[in-house]
Amino acid sequence: MKNERQIFIKEIIKNFSKKEKKISSKFHYDLRGSKYFEKITTSKEYYITRIEKKILKKIASKINVTYKSLTSFIEFGSGSTDKISILLNKKVKYYIPLDISFDFINKSSNILRKKFPRLKIIPTYCDYNKFINLPNKITKVKIGFFLGSSIGNFYNGDEKIFLKNAKRTLGNSSYLFVGADLIKNKKILEKAYNDSGGFAARFNLNLVRRMNNEMHTKLKINDFTYISQLNKANSTMESFVISKKNQNFSIGTKKFFFKKNEKIQTETSKKFTFSSFSKLAKSSGWKIKKYWCDKKKYYAVFLLSC
Ligand SMILES: C[S@@+](CC[C@H](N)C(=O)[O-])C[C@H]1O[C@@H](n2cnc3c(N)ncnc32)[C@H](O)[C@@H]1O
Repeated sequence: MKNERQIFIKEIIKNFSKKEKKISSKFHYDLRGSKYFEKITTSKEYYITRIEKKILKKIASKINVTYKSLTSFIEFGSGSTDKISILLNKKVKYYIPLDISFDFINKSSNILRKKFPRLKIIPTYCDYNKFINLPNKITKVKIGFFLGSSIGNFYNGDEKIFLKNAKRTLGNSSYLFVGADLIKNKKILEKAYNDSGGFAARFNLNLVRRMNNEMHTKLKINDFTYISQLNKANSTMESFVISKKNQNFSIGTKKFFFKKNEKIQTETSKKFTFSSFSKLAKSSGWKIKKYWCDKKKYYAVFLLSC
């Protein structure tokens, strides 16, 4: 989308003018990036999708006790809509997938329409970091979903802003299911973010390709490598694209420089404890109604209410 391209260029220029260069994870998701993400979810090392789906299957039959009348499901960063299809039932009248990957949500919504022909699906292109004006015609009762450990992908504590805006978007007496990855062994974490199939590497290096396509930077993907490491002090997995050599490039009239071995951060992925997640939810105006996790306590799905 034209506007999205301008936002991407503006943010890259702003962030690459700083000493430590960072790119927000929302820019990973052009159509190709969304497809690479789906590949990551199939890798044997990436436990997140497998465990979360198992938890959702377990709670699917119980969640409609949460609401008595017809409801609308609102999914922030819906991606393939694979997980929501585990939870959909006859009491759901509307499903609003919200996503920044425009072509991808349209495709995913068409697939879902075939599976659930009576469900009214309204795919909505947006940046979920902001308040979203939902269509007036949808039901009063709204249940939000924020899955895939995306709550961990904010820099500088911006997850609090997301949760506050989600509360405004969904309105009073709404619920929000949030999937959060839990702190665990360094080896398991680092394997998950550096899968042997190289999908995470391709997903992150796709940003170089996206810059070339949208900003004519003429960078060579082979001049970069990828790594993801645990920052134990911050309980975050940090992913980087690393420049293999000194290189100059321009964006419009602005000149930039990558030093040899310079790291450009392309993702942050916060890992929670029950207590740190609970603190975050409370400070953002939500109450924890319930939570579910796997036996090993690798991952949890929290149900929040206003
Ligand atoms: C980590 S993936 C999760 C996908 C899916 N929910 C799952 O659980 O597998 C993040 C999804 O959120 C979308 N996304 C990322 N940042 C976004 C933003 N700021 N606004 C809207 N969508 C965003 C991406 O396009 C992608 O589909």
